[in-house]
Amino acid sequence: MQIRFLISVLALLGASVTFAAGDPEAGKAQAIVCAACHGQDGASGIDPTYPNLAGQNERYLFRQLQLIQLGARTIVLMTGQLIGKSEQDLEDLAAYYASLPGKLGQTEGDAKSVATSESIYRGGIQKKGVAACTSCHSPTGSGNALAGFPRLSGQSTSYTIAQLTAYREGLRVTDEQYGGMMRDVASGLTDTEIRALADYLRGLH
Ligand code: HEC
Ligand code: HEC
Repeated sequence: MQIRFLISVLALLGASVTFAAGDPEAGKAQAIVCAACHGQDGASGIDPTYPNLAGQNERYLFRQLQLIQLGARTIVLMTGQLIGKSEQDLEDLAAYYASLPGKLGQTEGDAKSVATSESIYRGGIQKKGVAACTSCHSPTGSGNALAGFPRLSGQSTSYTIAQLTAYREGLRVTDEQYGGMMRDVASGLTDTEIRALADYLRGLH
């Protein structure tokens, strides 16, 4: 049942591969309700576990909004937010948040934890088959806008921890193509490594 659902999600996403750029102004008008949780600037959520959206790339945001709307990525707080929105609406919202300046945080943790994260980020963990993050998320953590790989720098630490854990436990089930990459990567990470990476990514630039 779930597999069939995922296949139809993939088919829907496939149908919208022709990615047209959104209109940030039109997105801004819709984003008033989003600001209640994600902050006026898209980077100061009312709760420290809410993700920053400002400066995230448009392609990634658009895909996530589609997945959330379809229910493939379950976010209880957000399900009601996207009802009735057209594909163009989602593109406009994505374009708006992508146009806002991203926030950068401070790297935290002691020297040992920073060194561990730096080594995983740049070189992966060969014996556990964890791929280097840098190849997809860029050496500066800014992601890959063209490929739609997300920016990680400056993200809420607790949000990053929750996402890496959810990929590892198979709870963030988006699709095979994109989500599958992260489930593979995260399956080899321990809680300590996830915590250290999240602290590190917050200040990476
Ligand atoms: C009631 C609070 C709330 C409102 C209102 C809300 N969101 Fe969210 N949003 C969240 C939470 C919480 C998460 C993260 C949940 C998780 O996965 O842990 C989230 C996640 C997201 C993500 C995924 C971010 C990522 O890095 O993958 C996007 C994109 C997003 N929201 C966009 C929006 C937009 C656009 C609106 C307005 C139409 C909106 N949100 C309104 C609470 C909210
Ligand atoms: C092969 C490419 C690839 C590699 C290597 C990779 N990622 Fe990712 N990452 C992705 C993709 C694609 C997504 C979006 C997946 C989805 O749709 O859920 C993602 C999503 C994420 C997210 C969620 C972002 C958000 O805003 O919700 C985090 C956190 C993350 N990656 C961290 C890492 C870390 C840490 C590493 C290294 C240990 C890593 N990634 C290695 C491709 C990769």
